[in-house]
Amino acid sequence: MGQNLILNAADHGYTVVAFNRTVSKVDHFLANEAKGKSIVGAHSIEELCAKLKRPRRVMLLVKAGQAVDDFIELLLPYLEPGDIIIDGGNSHFPDSNRRCKYLAEKGFLFVGSGVSGGEEGARYGPSLMPGGNPAAWPHIKSIFQDISAKSDGEPCCDWVGDEGAGHFVKMVHNGIEYGDMQLICEAYDLLKRGAGFTDKEIGDVFTKWNSGVLDSFLVEITRDILYYNDDDGTPIVEKILDTAGQKGTGKWTAINALDLGMPVTLIGEAVFARTLSAIKSERVRASKILSGPIPKFEGDRQELVDQLEQALYASKIISYAQGFMLIREAGKEYGWTLNNPAIALMWRGGCIIRSVFLGDITRAYRAQPDLENLLFDDFFHSAIDKAQDSWRKIVALGAMSGIPTPAFTTALAFYDGYRSERLPANLLQAQRDYFGAHTFHVLPEYVSDKYPANKDVHINWTGRGGNVSASTYLA
Ligand code: 6PG
Repeated sequence: MGQNLILNAADHGYTVVAFNRTVSKVDHFLANEAKGKSIVGAHSIEELCAKLKRPRRVMLLVKAGQAVDDFIELLLPYLEPGDIIIDGGNSHFPDSNRRCKYLAEKGFLFVGSGVSGGEEGARYGPSLMPGGNPAAWPHIKSIFQDISAKSDGEPCCDWVGDEGAGHFVKMVHNGIEYGDMQLICEAYDLLKRGAGFTDKEIGDVFTKWNSGVLDSFLVEITRDILYYNDDDGTPIVEKILDTAGQKGTGKWTAINALDLGMPVTLIGEAVFARTLSAIKSERVRASKILSGPIPKFEGDRQELVDQLEQALYASKIISYAQGFMLIREAGKEYGWTLNNPAIALMWRGGCIIRSVFLGDITRAYRAQPDLENLLFDDFFHSAIDKAQDSWRKIVALGAMSGIPTPAFTTALAFYDGYRSERLPANLLQAQRDYFGAHTFHVLPEYVSDKYPANKDVHINWTGRGGNVSASTYLA
């Protein structure tokens, strides 16, 4: 990643100083990939800092966690006030908040930047999501926007916000990435186990989908994966152990959603789907004990493909709506001014979740930057209207055929919950008050002398409980 970002910056006319703690790697890089380019080597941190123009702009691409703190400490003796340290790793945003404050106290400017797009993105145009000390932005803006991916000529990079806002937005990007991947995997499972499609046939389905509303990097690579055969002529994907790994950014998103009280259910299910896959030996034992329907698809294959496309699209809309709900809440909670159209544009190109769909989200937020929810935008509202019959059929098909579709299903449950004026939480509140005197409020139409507005009411349900309530009402 680091090498590719350096090459990318050099291609855009910048002179870059390259350093690696394993100095032989620097020499190898200079003698090979960097040969003939405006790239200078450094064999120590002192030399690196001595060679940089003021204010120094040092970008770290090291493993998230302690390694970032350690590297910052190694750099500090050679920096001067006003110099900028940029962390381009997948750091957890609370760490970036902390580093931003710590460095500001010492007179240095910190930037925590999301970098997405993998090695190829780094080389030819990543999506960059910088946040941190805003005084740093004018010094890095042109280089960041020059080396980033472009969407219709616009850079997929803009200033995200204060402190760890850049890493926060990258974290949500990764959570959405988990959701998109899970939805694609569920579609594959329904076609393969559910309806007996071959990998080649599923590849053909993805080829078609990639020219419609689902046109995206993840659909494109899934097509290529399904077409990829091993030396024996069979699809290699079927030889891969079905236990998913994770480095934790999706989990951080789900934890943050719980912390902020936001129903980001699809990303949560995507994380749990990975953890369920990871208990493989237990699943193997369960498969011998627990029964369920045996998938037997007898419907029209093309109809199934079309319904799945709509179900995937609708679920994706829900997932992005939930992601932006989390971003909205984080802005309030952490005091960041987060710019939705800019975030959608940053994700439009260069990153793993890049898609045509993000162009529509950018348009929606540009037309109405303070849009309360993506689902209120006319375009997405009609898309869901059009998709929902198919979506419901796919969720029912999964349930009836015993193929797990946690992401499709939770998306639909969220949709039905979100559009419900009334939910059964009235009963839940009664239960809480019954067993724990946790109190409830009454509906506006029942406000009276007996039940004043916003008054915490407790009922002695059994005559044996007390009349004293346990705590104040917290929704
Ligand atoms: C990106 C990706 C990347 C991520 C990996 C692995 O935007 O380029 O999001 O940052 O770390 O895809 O993530 P998991 O190991 O958690 O699946």
